[in-house]
Amino acid sequence: MNIVLLGPPGGGKGTQAKRLEDRFGLKQLSTGDMLRAAVAAGTDTGKKAKAVMDAGGLVSDDIIIAMIDERLSQADCRSGAIFDGFPRTAAQAEALDRLLASRGSRLDHAIELKADEEVLVQRIAGRYSCKRCGAGYHDHFQRPKTDGVCDACGGSEFVRRDDDKPDTVRARLEAYRLQTAPILPYYERQALLTRLDGMATMDEVTGQLEALLRKPVKR
Ligand code: AP5
Ligand code: MG
Repeated sequence: MNIVLLGPPGGGKGTQAKRLEDRFGLKQLSTGDMLRAAVAAGTDTGKKAKAVMDAGGLVSDDIIIAMIDERLSQADCRSGAIFDGFPRTAAQAEALDRLLASRGSRLDHAIELKADEEVLVQRIAGRYSCKRCGAGYHDHFQRPKTDGVCDACGGSEFVRRDDDKPDTVRARLEAYRLQTAPILPYYERQALLTRLDGMATMDEVTGQLEALLRKPVKR
């Protein structure tokens, strides 16, 4: 099964993709996480992407499509993937269809997590993650069981994203409105699109996603 998770910054794509990974045996492919890893490793891709990410814009389609193509060839994606934050442009959406078709596969669902802008800004402002294992937390909505200690790995160092500053968040929201939201009709026309209320609690959203993914796919 292959699923696209769409939605604005802070919509809950990463949170939900991680929860669905184990439950459905799918691999989370977050282009944002891949780019941040490339920036941290100082690769050519990372060097090209950094300034664009810091400004809240979109990295070029060529870079993103090549990254996904390479990733889909790896064994852990064989039983399917949850695309988190990809595609973000019409060219990326068409490329994904081609990449899946060339592997004898196809997309089963495109799911949009919708939320109000005010809430998105609040979510992003409070977000942080474990430096060692990447587990995600929030100052108000998702605190570790013991303050300062990661539930998943016991790590005690946490990091916040460089692009979570208010000005950059505004630019990311604008990029979503102008470049990514317009691809929703592409999936609507193929009867693949489901819109979910991303304002519900994390557990409620997970429940809605599980119910959707457990239904047999109509072809
Ligand atoms: P990316 O990393 O994809 O960032 P994004 O799309 O801006 O989305 P976020 O990761 O901020 O939000 P999310 O929806 O994952 O929310 P989360 O679950 O963390 O991209 C970063 C940059 O990389 C882009 O700006 C661009 O430059 C570049 N890039 C990436 N992909 C690209 C592509 N395909 N093409 C071109 N450029 C690309 O939730 C947020 C917080 O809210 C968390 O703290 C969480 O705990 C909390 N939360 C989540 N759900 C709930 C809930 N239901 N209730 C309460 N709190 C909640
Ligand atoms: Mg994310």
